[in-house]
Formats: sequence, structure tokens, C-alpha cells
Amino acid sequence: MQMLTQRLWSQGSSRWHMGELAWFRYEHIGREPEWPTSLWEYGEEIVGWAWARLPGHLDPHLDPAHIQVADRVLRWFDSVAESERRTLTVLDAETDLTEIVTRHGYREVDGEPFFIHLSRSLDNLPEPKVPEGYTLRPVRDESDADARAAVHRAAFSSQRWASQVTGESYLQVMRAWPYREELDWLVEAPDGTPVAFCLVWLDEHNRVAALEPVGTDPRHQRRGLASAAILGALRAVRQLGATSARVCARGDDDYPSARATYQSLGFRPFARNVSFVRDAGSQ
Ligand SMILES: CC(C)(COP(=O)(O)OP(=O)(O)OC[C@H]1O[C@@H](n2cnc3c(N)ncnc32)[C@H](O)[C@@H]1OP(=O)(O)O)[C@@H](O)C(=O)NCCC(=O)NCCS
Repeated sequence: MQMLTQRLWSQGSSRWHMGELAWFRYEHIGREPEWPTSLWEYGEEIVGWAWARLPGHLDPHLDPAHIQVADRVLRWFDSVAESERRTLTVLDAETDLTEIVTRHGYREVDGEPFFIHLSRSLDNLPEPKVPEGYTLRPVRDESDADARAAVHRAAFSSQRWASQVTGESYLQVMRAWPYREELDWLVEAPDGTPVAFCLVWLDEHNRVAALEPVGTDPRHQRRGLASAAILGALRAVRQLGATSARVCARGDDDYPSARATYQSLGFRPFARNVSFVRDAGSQ
């Protein structure tokens, strides 16, 4: 999946980055039974992957040169989905794929949360700054995994929902290609507890970095800590040869904070995800 994602990478027409794919596959333990996943080949070459999330969501990633495989991918999805209502997500630029999913009875979903893609060049990165008493540093080694998972949970949990990232699942992320400790940045509070973070993934072949995930413990937000972690990680990935970075954030007005953070650092939107739905009986 990652190699196809790397081969298909192109800014503006590729929904996925091979590094963030590692994050999404490994951030939790034990999800595989909920995730029927298929690979599609043409001759010797992988030309698509399809990741279903039961009961009824599909994330497809298909080579535009072999887009006709989408018909078979959608039939495969119908064979594994467990709900009558089925959803899938594509990038807005995937117009050929959109045409095929529409032919299969899907219609675009309006008025729900959606994600945009933002990017910036890695030229002219400011120096990261943290307020007095805080410390900025990369992850050292696997002994940081528990604390790293704890700050992730602090940032990504709410009254309605708790993140399932654990020290054990974080170790799984750290052992996945192409994770590198020197691209995983933390800000520690004066007592040494990590309170903000930014993990950056490097696609060495395309020289493009992806940020996933970024967060700050709510008790320490709006002090410039996420900005500092992002700049620390981006400067490190630039040293390793990346020339640009991209990140996804909610694009709808119900969740402006992440988008505002990236925009304040010079990231600019260039694409968005589009969701489709097919209700029972509409095929
Ligand atoms: C988004 C998030 C990482 C920002 O962390 P943070 O440490 O508070 O961010 P910073 O202090 O570096 O903010 C930098 C700038 O971003 C903008 N910004 C950050 N949060 C904002 C908010 N809630 N509303 C509007 N603008 C905001 C502001 O311009 C801010 O500068 P200012 O405080 O001088 O006005 C944090 O809110 C968070 O962890 N949210 C939950 C997890 C999440 O959504 N992560 C991103 C997923 S893509």
C-alpha cells in the first residue's frame, strides 16, 4: 500500500502520503478485523488498494492510468460491507473516479465535516520558539513511547470520545516504515511532561513531508507550542532532503483551530476530500 502510494504521489491529485498511511494503519492495536483491505494488480504491478472500514466506509487509492479497476473495487466493497448505507471518500481532483462512483449510485454528501489539504515549501522556515520553562526536543527512543502516547490522548480526546492510542500502539507506529525519531517532536512542560507534539513523515523519493498527527494538551493551548513542534519537525525534515510539506485539516467552520494553526505557519489549502454516500436501494 505504501509503495503504491509513493509511486502515485503528486501534489494536488493524490489523497494519500505514504507516511500518514503508516500512522493510520498502526495508531491503534487490533483494528484489522474491522478493516477488510484489498490490493489490485495489473500484470506484476500494484495499481490500487482499497481499505474498507466496517460497517460501510471505503477509502480507495487507485492508479489513474488503470482507473477502470474502480468498477471491480466497488463490487468488492459491496461484498464486504455490512451496512446498507455505504460511504466513500475521494480527493476532489479524482474526477475519473468520481464519475465511476456516481455511476455506481453514489451521490456527493453535503454539509458534513470535510478535510482540506494544505502545503508549504520548506524554504524560509522560522526558528521555533517556546515560552520560558518549556523545552522542545525530538523523541529519543522507544522509552518515550508511553509519554508520547499520553500527550496524544490528551490532545485527541474529548468528553464524547477518547483516543485509543496507547504506549503499545505507539511502539507499533515507531517500528513502521518510514518512522524516524528525529522527525517526531515534543514540547515538554516545565515539569518534563510532554504537552505538545508534531510527527512528520518523509517520503524520500518525492522529497515531500507529511504532518500526522499534531496536537497540544488543552491545558497548554494557544501558547505557540504546536507551532514550535511543527517548526522543529519541519526543520529536521528539510535537513533530510524534503522540499515541501503537506498536512490535512478540517475544512469546515465547525473546527477551525487546526486549519488556523497551519495557515499561521504559511500552509495554504490546495485540495479537499469529497465524501459520497449510497443509501439502501439506490443502486
Ligand atoms: C490545533 C492545535 C494543535 C493547536 O495547538 P496550539 O498549541 O494551541 O497552537 P498554537 O498556540 O501554536 O497556535 C498558533 C496559531 O494558530 C491559530 N490558532 C490555534 N488555535 C486556534 C483556535 N482555537 N482558534 C483560532 N485560531 C487558532 C492562531 O493563529 C494561533 O496564534 P495566536 O494564539 O497567537 O492567535 C490544538 O488546538 C489541538 O491539539 N487540537 C486538537 C487536536 C487537533 O485537532 N490536531 C490537529 C489535527 S489536523
